[in-house]
Amino acid sequence: MTDQTPEAPIVRIRDLHKRYGDLDVLRGVSLDVTRGEVVVIIGPSGTGKSTLLRCINQLTRPDSGRVWLDGVEVTAPECNLNEVRAEVGMVFQDFNLFNHLTAIKNVAIGPIRVLHMDRAQALELARYELERVGLAGKADAYPGQLSGGQKQRVAIARALAMKPKVMLFDEPTSALDPELIGEVLEVMKKLAQEHMTMLVVTHEMGFAREVANRIVFMEGGNIVEEGPPAQLFYAAQHPRTAEFLGKIADLYGDEQGSSG
Ligand SMILES: Nc1ncnc2c1ncn2[C@@H]1O[C@H](COP(=O)(O)OP(=O)(O)O)[C@@H](O)[C@H]1O
Ligand SMILES: [Mg+2]
Repeated sequence: MTDQTPEAPIVRIRDLHKRYGDLDVLRGVSLDVTRGEVVVIIGPSGTGKSTLLRCINQLTRPDSGRVWLDGVEVTAPECNLNEVRAEVGMVFQDFNLFNHLTAIKNVAIGPIRVLHMDRAQALELARYELERVGLAGKADAYPGQLSGGQKQRVAIARALAMKPKVMLFDEPTSALDPELIGEVLEVMKKLAQEHMTMLVVTHEMGFAREVANRIVFMEGGNIVEEGPPAQLFYAAQHPRTAEFLGKIADLYGDEQGSSG
């Protein structure tokens, strides 16, 4: 059941199904993610993208199908979900910071509470992670004193402080004013260059084209098409892919996408 050869995918998803009442949200999704790979997931709203991400760290339990993280089956009944969640960083649209804690304490709290790191060491780590996202100067600021872009970068630092095996981003820039999107995408791009394994749900097609190793187009609970950016953007195999990308370009401005 465990498979930790170096070539084994760090995330392996097989035939995931999830329904809510009458709604078939995931209809048999399979996906492998290689260590260091950046996979961007695109698709219309309500198509199961968030549900798929949440099945990786088991915030959502699928009805059937299996998921492995670094060779460990997280869908196995005996799997320790707290351990799994500590190994998967997740960044949400709406930051989810503790408003009563400073930036540095927001970042340090996971290592202290979950990894049982001593306080001084955790604060040192938190300072380092804040520096990585360009916020060394904001360590003592409260979320209320930060812009949306800065809050999202604190949220990324908080996830990084747990030394995750994989980072999941669920529309990390969708709640931001346009002028603040770039600073968050820059941090994500830097992580990609440092070979962080990342799954990113986004509408930022500029980022997808520039940073993704692979783009996955989902619709109606299925993966319709996946491939390198050049394939999806310029040589889509499926008419729905081209149609969706055309619509996104109309919605978000020019054909470069909103992030340029
Ligand atoms: N906890 C839930 N209970 C009921 N319906 C849900 C729940 N989570 C998601 N859904 C529904 O499942 C569908 C897919 O949701 P989601 O995965 O969030 O799609 P996406 O991220 O692609 O927009 C949506 O119709 C959504 O309303
Ligand atoms: Mg979503």
